[in-house]
Amino acid sequence: MHVSLAGITKRYGAILANDDVDLDLVPGEVVALLGENGAGKSTLMKILFGFQQADAGEIRIDGRPVVIDSPRAAAALGIGMVFQQFSLVPALTVRENLALGHRCTPWWIGRGARSFAAPVAHLRDIAPEIEPDLPVSRLAVGEMQLVELAKVLNLDAGVVILDEPTSVLTPAESERLWEQVRRIAAGGAAVVLITHKLEDVFACAQRVAVMRRGRMVATLDTSSVTPDALVRLIVGAETVTTAQPVERTADALPRAWIKNLSATTAAGAIAGVDLRIAAGEILGIAGVSGNGQQTLADAVAGLAILLAGEVIVDGETLQAPRAEMPAQSAVAYLPEQPLRNAVAPDLSVAVNLMLKRIRDLPWRSHPSQFDADARERITAFDIRPTDPRATAASLSGGNLQKLVAARELAGAPALIVACYPTMGLDLGAAAAVYEALFAHARRGAAVLWISEDLDDLLRYAHRIAVLHRGRIAGIADTAQATRRQLGAWMVGHSIDVAAEPAHA
Ligand SMILES: Nc1ncnc2c1ncn2[C@@H]1O[C@H](COP(=O)(O)OP(=O)(O)OP(=O)(O)O)[C@@H](O)[C@H]1O
Ligand SMILES: [Mg+2]
Repeated sequence: MHVSLAGITKRYGAILANDDVDLDLVPGEVVALLGENGAGKSTLMKILFGFQQADAGEIRIDGRPVVIDSPRAAAALGIGMVFQQFSLVPALTVRENLALGHRCTPWWIGRGARSFAAPVAHLRDIAPEIEPDLPVSRLAVGEMQLVELAKVLNLDAGVVILDEPTSVLTPAESERLWEQVRRIAAGGAAVVLITHKLEDVFACAQRVAVMRRGRMVATLDTSSVTPDALVRLIVGAETVTTAQPVERTADALPRAWIKNLSATTAAGAIAGVDLRIAAGEILGIAGVSGNGQQTLADAVAGLAILLAGEVIVDGETLQAPRAEMPAQSAVAYLPEQPLRNAVAPDLSVAVNLMLKRIRDLPWRSHPSQFDADARERITAFDIRPTDPRATAASLSGGNLQKLVAARELAGAPALIVACYPTMGLDLGAAAAVYEALFAHARRGAAVLWISEDLDDLLRYAHRIAVLHRGRIAGIADTAQATRRQLGAWMVGHSIDVAAEPAHA
């Protein structure tokens, strides 16, 4: 099925999200859709999926103009989309989620979908380790991503749209996804892959389309472009700055002690996690998602009830079993899935930015005061649009992530827990958020940084600990860490490093 988007234009108030955009989608081909945060990528694809209506322009399928006024209409035409923000129902099981909307599921089936094998067939194929009868709330984000993909595969769609599917996947998970993407295209579908990761582009896209500030600025064959040239096209400038690593201080004082922590949440469990972080130290946590990362982060930040252990910051116990959760200005928290976990979507950017300071505000503060404070943060973190009164929900995925960073990295927290802090950010924005995070480390904060990106961990963390099944499988100084060693810990093996050849 050949799809043409022609002259698509979409305005939100003063913002021109799509400005006269053309894009062709061809059967059997993967197009990577690139561009900075807020460039208009998600908007364009939401229009194709019938989730938004264009103000002008036309969609043609095999030459015939079509009207796509709802996702249901899009699905009927054979168009499937995985959204940037998850659309699974957390309280239902994986199987139930897949059965929802599956064409083999009769309307009367209710919750008895257990016996139905068809909805989970694709999932078994791409992620056999995911247990279909587990509620989705128990899955890690990487696993949710794969369930979302299975949901779209179930549609047998002629056009498959994936909005930043690899943003929280580990390298191994990404490779598995690339293989599926190539397979979908080989089966004759047209695929759109929205991403900020250049490795995604070169792994599976035949063509790249680059958007900048609402306009389509280039469409080219992947084989005709280098990674550097692509970066220049995306940012529209010659150079992109990257963050500088934080020097390690030799005699730094201990700052945070995560002492023998055990906790259980809906997302999983951790047991006996013991980590000490010095002032100015960046401790990276690596591991396949779903091995306790979220529980660890929630427990340290005070959002989970501890079964055992303590969190001690500057000698003071902040978390303890059965303790009433204290006000936590000492700890900053950038959680995963910010739209669900860290913002009030219907409130303004200004209010979201001051949520943590509510107690300190003089009572009867004037909203214009929030606006002035917010403007300063908006500029510092380059949040777009710059209007403090815009609702958080109207921000693009990357700008929402910047909003949470702008709030949490204000003030002078002693300990920062950062989960995938650059998830969904373009290169420039990622560098800026890293710089803001690292500035706290330089000032002496302890940083607990959870990431799926081994390259970044090896570049910026001082030490890397690996979580496996809720326990620390190993911990290494970054200078001594090898990918092979870390990879072995991630799957629960210990290898004898001394016996390994030096190049490993
Ligand atoms: N529902 C909405 N209401 C108001 N403005 C919106 C809405 N949806 C998107 N926008 C605005 O349209 C512009 C394009 O947003 P879009 O989500 O398409 O960006 P994107 O390219 O997907 O960015 P990202 O990489 O951050 O996901 C942004 O300025 C955004 O704030
Ligand atoms: Mg987007």
